[in-house]
Amino acid sequence: MQFDRVLQNRFSCRSFDPLRPVPEGLIDECLRAARLAPSACNAQPWRFVVVTDEQKRRSICDEALGGLVPNRWAADAPVLVILAAVRKLGTALLGEGIKDIPYHLMDCGSSGEHLVLKATELGLGSCWLGWFRDKPLRRLIRAPKSWKLLAIIALGWPKEGWEPLDRSRMDLGKIAFRDDARTPWNGVDTN
Ligand SMILES: Cc1cc2nc3c(=O)[nH]c(=O)nc-3n(C[C@H](O)[C@H](O)[C@H](O)COP(=O)(O)O)c2cc1C
Repeated sequence: MQFDRVLQNRFSCRSFDPLRPVPEGLIDECLRAARLAPSACNAQPWRFVVVTDEQKRRSICDEALGGLVPNRWAADAPVLVILAAVRKLGTALLGEGIKDIPYHLMDCGSSGEHLVLKATELGLGSCWLGWFRDKPLRRLIRAPKSWKLLAIIALGWPKEGWEPLDRSRMDLGKIAFRDDARTPWNGVDTN
């Protein structure tokens, strides 16, 4: 798939075929893509726990999802990837303190997005879930204390006929600027 098609085809998939597993090889490819992400001082602070075990997935959905944000649709996803960040002593952490910029979170965000873009290329559906209960999830995946759990990424084969929700985006002129932060980017005539 061409890169632009990958970008266009990625959407938050919230309906999966529960009976169609994802081959391990494809999950491995997604993890390898995630690993290629850039990170401050090459600290590679991302950790991934891939949950395919049916019982464990059910426990995660029952105990760590739901409530205010109805994320229970994830029960049909054959793969749940828990994305966590570690903060090791080193130049990246030192830099964060000095600059007050959470480099490790930026790093993990880009590696998670590498993962979902690769999944898209492979024809898989994916959805980031940032709304989960930390304590039960931590217990269920036996996360070390030093890990900060950031997101669950659901992966699987999209159910046929399912339409993504609102995919609108803000105008470029509202989010991009030229030369200074007051001059909106007014686009380029690509014709
Ligand atoms: C960090 C992050 C957390 C998110 N958390 C959730 C979530 O808990 N539940 C959900 O249904 N979607 C979640 N989403 C998906 C967004 O709602 C979605 O990306 C956004 O509406 C744009 O739609 P699109 O991904 O289909 O383009 C999350 C996305 C990101 C990047």
